[in-house]
Amino acid sequence: MRVALTGTPGTGKSTVAPLMAEELDLEVVELSRHAREFAAEYDEERGSTEVDVDEMGDWAAGLGDVVFDGHVSHHLDVDHVVVLRCHPDTLMERLRDRGYGESKVQENASSEALDLVVAEAIHRHEEVYEVDTTDRSPEDVAEDVVEAVRGGLVNASMDGITVDWSSWLESST
Ligand SMILES: Nc1ncnc2c1ncn2[C@@H]1O[C@H](COP(=O)(O)OP(=O)(O)OP(=O)(O)O)[C@@H](O)[C@H]1O
Ligand SMILES: [Mg+2]
Repeated sequence: MRVALTGTPGTGKSTVAPLMAEELDLEVVELSRHAREFAAEYDEERGSTEVDVDEMGDWAAGLGDVVFDGHVSHHLDVDHVVVLRCHPDTLMERLRDRGYGESKVQENASSEALDLVVAEAIHRHEEVYEVDTTDRSPEDVAEDVVEAVRGGLVNASMDGITVDWSSWLESST
């Protein structure tokens, strides 16, 4: 079984991945460690490297049963996609704690509020699950991720996006 654990930066993928992977007896592949191998171009304005997802996909196809930890993992061929979500205010706190500059903090909070990752995931996959990490422990989140993979949660691809940060968007404009 191949699982993509995706979500906006700071939602907790790398914190949760080892916990859920152990339960499912899968290895974790942290995609950010391989970003350089598949770098397409450097986006100077945003200070980030864009990844060639086709090249990364060819490489990932040979890896067998794993958990792909990364915010581009939903572009890969997998059996299940789990999108970690986080309230934008909490996400901003997490990213500031990590030393991110204000423009990066705002950009990621907006992406999260606009459901960008989950919308991309739904566009490509038939099994997409959301797990809200706000005010929850990594262990609780990992339990939900495992339940999602085992088919116990609502499938956002079939039944729609359940997490709703629209009130944050309204209050922030
Ligand atoms: N319930 C939770 N689940 C996961 N992380 C949490 C949770 N609560 C708080 N956190 C904190 O949120 C931060 C998430 O960081 P982490 O590096 O795991 O995010 P990430 O999604 O892997 O980000 P990136 O895409 O940049 O690699 C950590 O500081 C973690 O301790
Ligand atoms: Mg990470």
